[in-house]
Amino acid sequence: MSRESCHIKAEKRKILPHMNKKYKSVWGNEAEMLILERKTMDSKPILQLIWRKWYEEIDKFMPEDGLNVELGAGGGFTETYFKNLVQTDVVLTPNIDICVDGSDLAFKDSILDTIVMIGVLHHIKNIDKFFNEAKRVLKKGGKILMVEPYISFFSYPVWKLLHYQGCNLKTLSCDSNDYARIGSNLAIPTILFKKERKQFEKNYPDLKIIHENYHTIFRFFASGGYTYPSLIPKFLLPLLLKLEKILEPLGKRLGSFMTVIIQKI
Ligand SMILES: C[S@@+](CC[C@H](N)C(=O)[O-])C[C@H]1O[C@@H](n2cnc3c(N)ncnc32)[C@H](O)[C@@H]1O
Repeated sequence: MSRESCHIKAEKRKILPHMNKKYKSVWGNEAEMLILERKTMDSKPILQLIWRKWYEEIDKFMPEDGLNVELGAGGGFTETYFKNLVQTDVVLTPNIDICVDGSDLAFKDSILDTIVMIGVLHHIKNIDKFFNEAKRVLKKGGKILMVEPYISFFSYPVWKLLHYQGCNLKTLSCDSNDYARIGSNLAIPTILFKKERKQFEKNYPDLKIIHENYHTIFRFFASGGYTYPSLIPKFLLPLLLKLEKILEPLGKRLGSFMTVIIQKI
């Protein structure tokens, strides 16, 4: 898909007109998009708060030493929290250490302790290849730590109608296969770990889901993410966070993200 048809697609979804101008100007140039995302993250405290909370949860499963690799590190914000991660991405930017494709992991067998992925699985075009590769490169007991979009009763209409990435609960395929950052299907993790979980367990018996959590109800949408301005004034943020805390037990119905920890047994 060319940059132009990519624009047309976004225009069709009536998304592009509302994007912040800077993001629009680099739309389709994936390295520039990722560099801009890092700048946005560095200047948007609400986004930092969201990501840090995700990091805190996966940190509990991270060994202190060992070989820990992040896939799809994008703007490289993870380095501000984890000091023991090799940051990789399929798109080369100054913020990553090495270029690695999630469906063809450039590592020896049984060498990694951890694979960290924040919002990456739903961009990988060949999921089966990724899990087979992950199985190959992880040590026994090694883990995949991931935070991914989650399609709940509440989040479905927001993801489906207001987000520029595709959201199709009927397929494990992505939109715009030629694009790493833009091409995706937000529903892939929900299909794999909720809707067709039994199939996942059957396909990968030595990859065991040892932890799952459904969370981030309003704050991500309210933040506008990387692409849009914040939707709520700063003074309302504490109130929103309090409300989210109260609703936390309803994460499965209302959450817009999930944390999934998978261990190679
Ligand atoms: C939604 S961004 C997330 C970036 C970053 N992890 C974050 O927390 O903001 C998805 C990232 O996955 C990367 N990606 C897409 N397909 C990939 C693949 N096959 N292998 C590795 N990374 C991939 C993209 O280049 C992009 O940086």
